[in-house]
Amino acid sequence: MKLKACRQHATLIVRKDNFIMTSTNVVIVGAGHMGSAIALGLRRSNSFLSITVIESNPIRRNEIITAGIPSLECLSDPLLSDVLILAIPPQTFLEFSKRTPQLEQYPGVIISVMAGINIAELKSRLKNSKICRAIPNLPCAINEGVTALICAPRLSKDNKGLINNLFSTLGTYFHVKDENLIDDATAIIGGGPAYICYFATALIEYAQSVGFESKSAFLMTTKILQGTAALLEINQEPPEKLCQQVMTPKGTTELAINHFDKKHVRATIISGLKQSSRRSKILGGRT
Ligand SMILES: NC(=O)c1ccc[n+]([C@@H]2O[C@H](COP(=O)([O-])OP(=O)(O)OC[C@H]3O[C@@H](n4cnc5c(N)ncnc54)[C@H](OP(=O)(O)O)[C@@H]3O)[C@@H](O)[C@H]2O)c1
Repeated sequence: MKLKACRQHATLIVRKDNFIMTSTNVVIVGAGHMGSAIALGLRRSNSFLSITVIESNPIRRNEIITAGIPSLECLSDPLLSDVLILAIPPQTFLEFSKRTPQLEQYPGVIISVMAGINIAELKSRLKNSKICRAIPNLPCAINEGVTALICAPRLSKDNKGLINNLFSTLGTYFHVKDENLIDDATAIIGGGPAYICYFATALIEYAQSVGFESKSAFLMTTKILQGTAALLEINQEPPEKLCQQVMTPKGTTELAINHFDKKHVRATIISGLKQSSRRSKILGGRT
């Protein structure tokens, strides 16, 4: 377990426990990108864990079943699982809440990974207070995800323990105290793999344009990402420092970075993240 202090409002504990939950029963609603990633990550971590995915689309349902995870068209009534994970688009939540009155009596914990919809809204629509919001990302599928969590105040210690165990099997997790940070976590963590892949696409595009075979362009790019991430994690130093170490004065990299700076690439990324966070609030009907 690693302990790490983050900035003022953000807590706090970054953990990676390896707890195996054999008797826990998990139901995931929505077998889209995120719901499938969570289901696959849980299945990889523990082949005995009971997982059921609810998905209305028969093609996606079959894909999940082929991956060895049971999938049904609708939620049972009553629902008796320990954990219910909502991985549906926020735009469909209102309708979903109207069609699932059984969640009022649901005895387990409800975890929403939906962007935007805050705890107050989840509680009031589902008429249930055992709520947690989580923002994971797609590497959860290979147990290398990172998840930001915030639990409703009335969740018991046991409920919180169950949530922590669940997300520790999907990678690393941490709790925040200020729910506003969940919108920013949505922008950073949820969107993170997309930004990295956007940059990776530019590297591949350039490599191919100058004559590297596509296989080599892909290999060198993935190895750059992997090696850099590993070096940052091992050294625990700011990325800026590694950047400076590559930027030999008057050398080749310095020229490229100076060009990025002139084009305000870093500021553009930060303003993109701000827009993404704002979008999360809009999706939750909070602006
Ligand atoms: N993608 C990410 O990296 C990521 C990261 C963090 C959080 N999230 C959150 O995760 C949620 C899902 O995102 P996604 O990217 O996985 O979206 P997605 O690929 O569009 O998948 C959404 C899935 O939910 C299903 N669905 C919609 N309404 C449903 C209902 N009432 N009952 C059962 N299934 C229903 C959809 O089925 P149909 O297509 O048949 O309607 C689809 O399979 C969103 O709230 C998003 O904010 C996503």
